[in-house]
Amino acid sequence: MKGLILAAGRGTRLRPLTHTRPKPVIRIAGKPIIHYAVENLREAGITEVGVVVSPDTREDIQQALKDFPGVHISYIVQEQALGIAHAVGTAMDWLAGGPFVLYLGDNLFQNGIKSFTEAFQPGVGAVIALVRVPDPRQFGVALLEEGRIVKLLEKPKDPPSDLAVAGVYVFGPEIADIIANLKPSARGEYEITDAIQGLIDGSKAVLGQEIVGWWKDTGRPADLLDANRLLLVDQKSPTPVLHGEVQDSQITGRVVVEAGACVKNSTILGPAHIAVGAKLEGAYIGPFTSIGPNAVVKHSEVEFSILEDGAVVEDVLLRLHECILGVGARVSSRISLPKAHKLMLGDLSSAELA
Ligand code: G1P
Repeated sequence: MKGLILAAGRGTRLRPLTHTRPKPVIRIAGKPIIHYAVENLREAGITEVGVVVSPDTREDIQQALKDFPGVHISYIVQEQALGIAHAVGTAMDWLAGGPFVLYLGDNLFQNGIKSFTEAFQPGVGAVIALVRVPDPRQFGVALLEEGRIVKLLEKPKDPPSDLAVAGVYVFGPEIADIIANLKPSARGEYEITDAIQGLIDGSKAVLGQEIVGWWKDTGRPADLLDANRLLLVDQKSPTPVLHGEVQDSQITGRVVVEAGACVKNSTILGPAHIAVGAKLEGAYIGPFTSIGPNAVVKHSEVEFSILEDGAVVEDVLLRLHECILGVGARVSSRISLPKAHKLMLGDLSSAELA
């Protein structure tokens, strides 16, 4: 079985972060989001992985997956963003008529995806991962009868159940013909939910399987912070794992300090992850925080936040909480008069000042 990861999306809800980099390369809990997808496929025994990229996302995605061990990765370019089923259609030659796992590259699963690939048997049309959510209107929604999906609707105003489609689908080869003949939806996209409804209408068994453990679709900034929190809580070692240089500091709980990071006169209260090359000095790093490679926190406090590569927080008086700083972003204190906030925010940035 092959694995197909979709990583061509524009990530509009995560702008401005996604103005310059695609969502799947944003780093949470020490790794780009797309690494978790490839790891889950590999754990399910899948070593042939295709990644659908756009002309814009290709370079960053390839860079993030360079030298990924234990899998062979191919890249398939989707020239236009016309929906999930269109992306799968673009990869049909690569899929070569076999069963495959479709994996939306921004989805995270606490317990991997093996249970879904194991539930697939020859002759079955599809196995769909489902998750109960409080408000299913922003997802595909399934109506389930005795383990079989009998109806599937994309983002319905009036959902028939609370079972949302999570971003992993196992397909038999029959889906190819259906996708080839699909019509675009009202929003102008080729919907994977319509293709699956085609399997159901053709009397193929479409099995729905609920996920066990947490699941996260990292669509919005709050989802990124929450995904980061969940992954950090799940870090293996309950006590600090210190590979970097640590001096005169107090480190408690599930904390990883990678080799090449440097922590001086600081306090870290886990769970937290400090990546290679990061520098902390006179810093307080509170729970649920990921500090990216070469990021710097000096004489400042940061908690429940994500700092990406090379982000800098220096001499900030008030603790940063629920912050996401993109690559090279900088937050510091203004020392000279006037006493005022001085901001340079990219398009669609947001800042909440205390
Ligand atoms: C897509 C699918 C939807 C599914 C969701 C899961 O929606 O169309 O059926 O529930 O992924 O993440 P999107 O996030 O692209 O709007």
